[in-house]
Amino acid sequence: MTTFLSKVTTGGLLLFGSALIASAQKDPKDLYLDKCSACHGPDGAGNTAKGKKLKIKGAKETTAKMSAADMIKVVQNGKGTDMDAYGKEFNADQIKGLVEYYRSLAK
Ligand code: HEC
Repeated sequence: MTTFLSKVTTGGLLLFGSALIASAQKDPKDLYLDKCSACHGPDGAGNTAKGKKLKIKGAKETTAKMSAADMIKVVQNGKGTDMDAYGKEFNADQIKGLVEYYRSLAK
């Protein structure tokens, strides 16, 4: 019984650990395509069904107006009713990577 329990616990911890590693290793592009592109579009232009409905501005326009630091704040804390806060889901490095990737789409 104890061995069974400890096996289950170890297995759970291993699974949990590898899930953490997997999400930490996902590169910004994959994260962006996975979590952000439904609204902002794979090309950052916001030309998706959701993006149009929410009147999302394209990366070219927003990158010209907003600094990376401001964007990091938006991604961390959310903005308005439709842009969620991702500060709990992603760590600071991941958010920085996401914003850098989003800004790279403006070019
Ligand atoms: C449900 C749709 C939705 C998803 C998913 C979403 N966003 Fe947004 N995002 C918005 C909306 C709407 C705004 C504009 C908010 C405002 O100005 O009131 C916005 C604003 C932003 C801004 C500020 C520039 C701008 O366009 O106004 C950045 C940067 C941003 N989002 C990045 C991301 C990143 C990175 C992700 C993925 C982790 C993401 N968003 C996921 C809807 C979304």
